[in-house]
Amino acid sequence: MQTIGVIGAGQMGAGIAQVSAQAGYTVLLADVGRAQAEKGKAGIAKLLDRAVTKEKITGEARDAALGLIEPVDDVAAMGGCTLVIEAATEREAIKRQIFEQVGKVLGIDAVLASNTSSIPITRLAQASPDPARFVGVHFFNPVPVMGLIELIRGLATSDATVARVEAYAQTLGKRVVHANDAPGFIVNRVLMPLLNEACFALGEGVASIADIDAAVTLGLNHPMGPLTLADFVGLDTCLEITRVLFEGTGDPKFRPAPLLVKYVEAGWFGRKTGRGFYDYSGAEPVPTR
Ligand code: CAA
Repeated sequence: MQTIGVIGAGQMGAGIAQVSAQAGYTVLLADVGRAQAEKGKAGIAKLLDRAVTKEKITGEARDAALGLIEPVDDVAAMGGCTLVIEAATEREAIKRQIFEQVGKVLGIDAVLASNTSSIPITRLAQASPDPARFVGVHFFNPVPVMGLIELIRGLATSDATVARVEAYAQTLGKRVVHANDAPGFIVNRVLMPLLNEACFALGEGVASIADIDAAVTLGLNHPMGPLTLADFVGLDTCLEITRVLFEGTGDPKFRPAPLLVKYVEAGWFGRKTGRGFYDYSGAEPVPTR
């Protein structure tokens, strides 16, 4: 089985490491330091323990998956990986810096992929060691639950690179869709206008937070209402992606809702800061309006 490198041990990186190990890959997990990579692995252990308790997987399967995940000090350890997936913070400068470090060790045949949700792949490829072996591989949160991977090819991405990453993605049991390198790819192109429109509706006093979410969960059969989902994704992330859509297309239909901008300016980013459209300080989320 191949060895996969995962850079970033946060929610997305840890999820990617988990599903890769469960599919039998050896995973080298890196973050800004060894301690953060270890913390990512500890989070995976908790999720796998929960799956054992729920009798979704056996104790042996948990131990086998955990045994395949090796936290490392940094990307220098990834010289033997056939595929390196970057799932670091969604900031272009950080990703560029990581690609420069990866470039020093990446094997001659290895593929470098980015889990970016919004930065153009063709532009990122310019900072990668070899744009022909660079591709977007977009996972969804929570990674172990969501059944989709978007594959995004940049202008220079080779067919062989796409085929190799598609083969990997399929071994994870996920459905692969192919997207061109356009703002938001497929999912965020469709999702962000929904979340943004819910923010417009709330800001214009159309309905309360609870009623907007109930309307969409019960009226459209979505698992989460748009304001709950915006808090889950992170309002800062939603705003960033909406701006990418707005600036990338020049189409005013993507302009960010003023209320979304205000919440981000207030530092109310959703679940991760304890407050967004809901307050997460108690046992259950409470709508703030
Ligand atoms: N990690 C791993 N597993 C998780 C999890 C997590 N963070 N959160 C929930 N799960 C698992 C649970 O263990 C449970 O598993 P079993 O069925 O095997 O027992 C299952 O998911 C269902 O969880 P719950 O019963 O606790 O809760 P739920 O039924 O309300 O489902 C949810 C939770 C799966 C998150 C569901 O609400 C959902 O699908 N929401 C929509 C999520 C979504 O749209 N994600 C995409 C966001 S966009 C994105 O990621 C891309 C981007 O670029 C912004």
